[in-house]
Amino acid sequence: MKHTLIKTEIPGPKSRELTARRKACVASPMESLAPFYIKTGHGAMVEDVDGNRFLDFTGGWGCLVTGHCPKEVVEAVKSQAGNFLHSDFTVVPYESWIELSEMLVKKTPGKSDKAAAFFNSGAEAVENAVKIARGATRRRSIVVFEGAFHGRTVLTMTMTQRPMPYKYIFGTAPDVYRLPYPNPRKNRYLPEDFERLLLETVCPEDVAAVIIEPIQGEGGFNVPPEGFLQEIRRVTAKYGVLMVADEVQSGYGRTGKFFAIENWGVEPDLITLGKSIAAGLPLSAVVGDKKYFDLLPKSSIGSTFGGNPVACAAAVEVIKTIDREKLLERALYLGKIIRRRFEGLKEKYPEIKEVRGIGAMLAIEFIKDEETWSPDTETCQKVIQEARNNGVILAGAGLNKNVIRLLLPLVITDEQLAEGLDIIDKAVARVTKKQPERAKTKK
Ligand SMILES: Cc1ncc(COP(=O)(O)O)c(C=O)c1O
Repeated sequence: MKHTLIKTEIPGPKSRELTARRKACVASPMESLAPFYIKTGHGAMVEDVDGNRFLDFTGGWGCLVTGHCPKEVVEAVKSQAGNFLHSDFTVVPYESWIELSEMLVKKTPGKSDKAAAFFNSGAEAVENAVKIARGATRRRSIVVFEGAFHGRTVLTMTMTQRPMPYKYIFGTAPDVYRLPYPNPRKNRYLPEDFERLLLETVCPEDVAAVIIEPIQGEGGFNVPPEGFLQEIRRVTAKYGVLMVADEVQSGYGRTGKFFAIENWGVEPDLITLGKSIAAGLPLSAVVGDKKYFDLLPKSSIGSTFGGNPVACAAAVEVIKTIDREKLLERALYLGKIIRRRFEGLKEKYPEIKEVRGIGAMLAIEFIKDEETWSPDTETCQKVIQEARNNGVILAGAGLNKNVIRLLLPLVITDEQLAEGLDIIDKAVARVTKKQPERAKTKK
C-alpha cells in the first residue's frame, strides 16, 4: 500500500486560499518550508488541507522523534489539560516537573549528581546554560564554533554562525568567540589544535563555557573528527571552563544514544535539550552537574511558562515511549537502511559527494567540484522541492544550504521509509538529469 498521495497540484486550492489570507496579515519574515497547510499528522505522515498525504522526514525541524501525535502523549496532554493548564512551578509546583527531572537526570551520562531546569525553547535553554556557566565560574566569555547554530535570541544568534538570515543587521552580544571546527574537507585543523587556537583567541581564565553541538544540526550534520570532543573536555577541565553540549537537535535518540555525546564517551558539565523533548509542545531543558546550579542565587534562572505542566506531562510520556518502543535501537536500524540507500545515491549521482551522520541522523551533501568542495546549492534545493511535490517533506542544512538532512520520526515504519527513500531517489534523478518538473507542479 502506498502511503503518500498527491491528488491536487501542490499547493492545492485550499492551501492557495490560505496563502492568500496569510499574505494580508502574517508577518512576512515568517516563511514556511512547505507551500501547503497541515490538517492532521500521525506517526510519520502529514495530511494537508487538500487531502494530499506526505511523509514527514523533517518533523517540524526535528521535534518529532516519537512522531506526530503519539497516542500516550496525546492522552497525557488531554488529562493534564483537564486538571490545570498553568501554575508556574516557581509559584505552585507540580509532580510532572519532578518526574521529568528524575527521568532526565537518570539518562544524563556521568557519575556526578545531576539536576534539571526547564524553559520554553532551545534558544532559551542555551541562554540559561550560558547564565549558569557564567554564574558558576564568575567569568564572561563564551567559545563557540564555525558552523554552529544555537538559536535566534540576541545572545544565541551571536553564537550562531550564519549571518543571513539569522544575524542580518540585528546587532550582536559581547564576549562570544568563535573557533574553527576541524573539517578535512574545508581546513587543515586537527582536534589537537583546539588548545592552541583557544589560547590565541581568548584568555581561558575569562572563559565561562565552550559550547558545542556534538553533531552540528543546522550547520549540515557535521560529525566531529575522532578525538575532538575528548580534547575539548580535556582542555576545558584544565582551565576550569564548563563544557556545554547543545543537544537541542542531536539529543533524544536520533543517533542511537539518548544524548549524541554518549557516542564519544564524553561527560559534559551541562547539556541543553529541546525540540523532541515534548513531542512538539514548547519545552526545553538544561541538565547537568548539580554543583553548578547550586552556585547560583535562588530565582536567578526561570521563566513564567518554562516547564509548563502540559508540556511536562507530554515529555514524561515521550521518554516512556522512547524506552517502551526501543527507539534508540530503532534509530540504529533505520540508520543502516538509510545509509545504504544514501551510499547508493552517491554512487549513482555525482552531485552527491558525501553521506554523513550517526544512527538515523544522516545527511547528504551536494557538491559541484570535489577539489574546491564548492557547494551545489541549486541542485540540493531543487531536490528538496521535487521530493516535497511528490510526497516527502525534506529539510535543507549547511552554511550554503547544499545539504539534505533527515530528521524523521523514529516511529516510521519500514514500508514508509522505503517509499520515502524511493521518492528522494527519483527526485535526484529528475533534477540531475535536468528533466522538467512535473507539469502539475505550481510554484
Ligand atoms: C543545536 C540547536 N540549538 C538551539 C536551537 C534553538 O532552538 P529553538 O528554535 O527552539 O529556540 C536549535 C534549533 O534549531 C538547534 O538546532
